[in-house]
Amino acid sequence: MSDAALHERINTEQSLFINGRWSESASGRRFPVFNPATGQVVAHVSDGDAADARRAVDAAYAAFPQWSRLPAYRRGVMLRQAAALMYERRDELARTLTLEMGKPIREARGEISYAASFLEWFAGEGERAYGDIIPPMAPGKRHLVLKQPVGVVAAITPWNFPAAMVTRKVAPALAAGCTVVLKPAEQTPLTAMALMDIFAEAGVPPGVINLVTTNDPAAVADAWLSDHRVRKITFTGSTEVGKLLMRKAADQVKRVSLELGGHAPVIVFDDADVDKAVRGTMASKFRNSGQTCVCANRIYVQKGIYERFAEKFTAAVRNLRVGDGLSEDAEVGPLVDEAALEKVTAHVEDAVARGAELLAGGRRVTEGELARGWFFLPTVLAGVRDDMRIMREETFGPVAPLIPFEHEAEAYERANDSPYGLAAYVFTENISRGIRAAERLEYGIIGLNDGTPSTAQVPFGGFKESGIGREGGPYGIHEFLEVKLVGLAVDEEPR
Ligand code: SIN
Repeated sequence: MSDAALHERINTEQSLFINGRWSESASGRRFPVFNPATGQVVAHVSDGDAADARRAVDAAYAAFPQWSRLPAYRRGVMLRQAAALMYERRDELARTLTLEMGKPIREARGEISYAASFLEWFAGEGERAYGDIIPPMAPGKRHLVLKQPVGVVAAITPWNFPAAMVTRKVAPALAAGCTVVLKPAEQTPLTAMALMDIFAEAGVPPGVINLVTTNDPAAVADAWLSDHRVRKITFTGSTEVGKLLMRKAADQVKRVSLELGGHAPVIVFDDADVDKAVRGTMASKFRNSGQTCVCANRIYVQKGIYERFAEKFTAAVRNLRVGDGLSEDAEVGPLVDEAALEKVTAHVEDAVARGAELLAGGRRVTEGELARGWFFLPTVLAGVRDDMRIMREETFGPVAPLIPFEHEAEAYERANDSPYGLAAYVFTENISRGIRAAERLEYGIIGLNDGTPSTAQVPFGGFKESGIGREGGPYGIHEFLEVKLVGLAVDEEPR
């Protein structure tokens, strides 16, 4: 697809998808979407408000009885068809995604496949959402356990994976028989819009999935949180917003799934294969320009291997090609917006002011074409201490702090010293140490010699303030199912 055609497709005034039709917001207002690589506006989309949010719930609520009664197999056929369409349109979707979010186009194609894989996986999981028959204690009793969809689900998705975080929520919800109202991040509504067309073409009936784009996320979220017809909120985003949603959801005891912030430690032991450790840490740290919840934030390296690791890691970081995500050879794209750039800059400046040493990068790109966008150079910091902001707060950028440590127990203690508990990484060639580390670390995801452990088939979610619930794998669909007991009293057989 040419850029002109792409622009025409996404520069639409009608970006609310409600009851199977595109429409404008009630207010008629629109808001701009920017290309983070150039700072230019790529589209204006409808700015939905509380009235639009309620209209979306009307549609989802009306569609629920029929959709939930459809055999899971039939729902699965539509999800598989949606996945097939995503693979078919992978390049076009990836381009839209990169245009609004900035990630390198090769990563964007990978994300589209990752996103489609949730549709395929949950198509099958819907068919396997078995109930139970429990052996009774007393004669004349029978116990059946049914699994039923929770009802209308409100999904609130982040900008860092504009396709995959939509399907990771929507696929299990639809497979379970729920209907959905979806609000994508204000930075990245375009990919979500393209997905609505795909669901419709795959045969998903009107009202089953509805999209409200908005520049006022609180207004839309509040409308859904105060609506009794919405039975579940599923959210990926910051811990701060997650806590707010959880407090408000408590008023109606709505079910919640929250995938929140992280501050992932990496532990590189003396006995690690240093090349493997560098590769794994690079993958974890620089995927999506450091803008994932599972990105390495603190890299603890045991003293015996520290110098070798720091040298090889810094060399690899200096070799990364920073560029406009639309260029085929870019490895690190821009940050999503000005606020992100300011935060990353502030973290690096704070660390340097308190005595950290810059081994690579350390500043915004100010030369050439890239100066127009929100680019930050891939950065390595040494001499980092626990009192620096970067060691406590999620940086969400391409900055890698290195910290030496002496003993195994010290590594676990320092790694666990965080309110977050999403992902942790361990590099060691000693299997016993690897198992010990996996058991001792208070994190929901452990990458053991593996910098990229996420896939559709496995649980994704955090301990502590990193969230509640799991997405992906067999665990993912249970978040959208109620468990119902049917107790039966059975008369004795007549003599
Ligand atoms: C996230 O950053 O929230 C998702 C990362 C992943 O799926 O690996």
